Amino acid sequence: MDRYKEIIPAWERFWETLHRPLSPVIRTNTLRISPLELQKRLEAKGFRLEPLPWDETAFKVEGEIPIGNTVEHWLGYYYVQEATQAFPVRALAPRPGERVLDLCAAPGGKTTQIAQLMENKGLLVANDPAPKRLRALLANLYRLGVLCAVVTGLRGEEFPKGIHFDRVLVDAPCSAEGTARRHPRLRRGAPLGIIRRMAGLQKRLLSHALKLVRPGGIVVYSTCTIAPEENEAVVKYALDQGLAELLPWEPPVPYSPGLTSFSGEEYGPELKKAVRFYPHHFDSEGGFVAVLKRTS
Ligand SMILES: C[S@@+](CC[C@H](N)C(=O)[O-])C[C@H]1O[C@@H](n2cnc3c(N)ncnc32)[C@H](O)[C@@H]1O
Repeated sequence: MDRYKEIIPAWERFWETLHRPLSPVIRTNTLRISPLELQKRLEAKGFRLEPLPWDETAFKVEGEIPIGNTVEHWLGYYYVQEATQAFPVRALAPRPGERVLDLCAAPGGKTTQIAQLMENKGLLVANDPAPKRLRALLANLYRLGVLCAVVTGLRGEEFPKGIHFDRVLVDAPCSAEGTARRHPRLRRGAPLGIIRRMAGLQKRLLSHALKLVRPGGIVVYSTCTIAPEENEAVVKYALDQGLAELLPWEPPVPYSPGLTSFSGEEYGPELKKAVRFYPHHFDSEGGFVAVLKRTS
């Protein structure tokens, strides 16, 4: 990660945080239960739940057994979702009755969160080309009682045009450097070859997503990586196609603005509107979110 020393604020704290364990976070499935009721049930089983101050549906959890091993999990009362991972859908802000596409959906953390905000009303298309991951996606949709979703198994960059979606989420495949707290080998940073390969696919996915959304519609681009080549460079590439503008978005937690340049590459002042999350900001993983609006 040394190549990020100049861009990550409070580098020492960032590096120290990467070596600290991460408590699991759960998101209440409000399609099935209220946060208060869920808290009571899990506390009665001996779990300690700490509500996240910025999200009334989420709790940090500690307990003697893994949080995935409960009947409440099996009944779909909650989804284990790292805190940073909840922000792309909050930025997407889907509403009941809309047409929403989740282009890289498996295993369904964000699809199920979208369905909650849509209150199970409207059309939610959950797409992912990886067969094994599709099975996990389907299982999660059933478990959480998602009724408004259809599932497709296409490469996102080939998703057919025709339906004009109100909102599209591109939670892109990435080099996952932001998950280095859980995957120590990533503390060295991802190999540059992987970063470049991912960036090519991400550019195709985001450019195509902008053609799938209606004029005036919203596309959210998110990753769980720190690499600017997979974040700001991808958004700049998509903006340069002239179909969209970048919207400002303020998350309710500490964050850093998107970069305007890195390693000799210029992304421009516009990219400050994107959001970077680092693990030492609110004891989480790392990630990136950009909100684009189709203009023509
Ligand atoms: C970061 S994960 C998505 C996580 C998911 N959104 C969630 O919250 O549970 C990225 C996903 O992109 C999928 N993917 C890989 N290549 C793709 C492509 N060409 N088009 C669409 N999705 C792709 C992977 O199979 C993987 O499931």
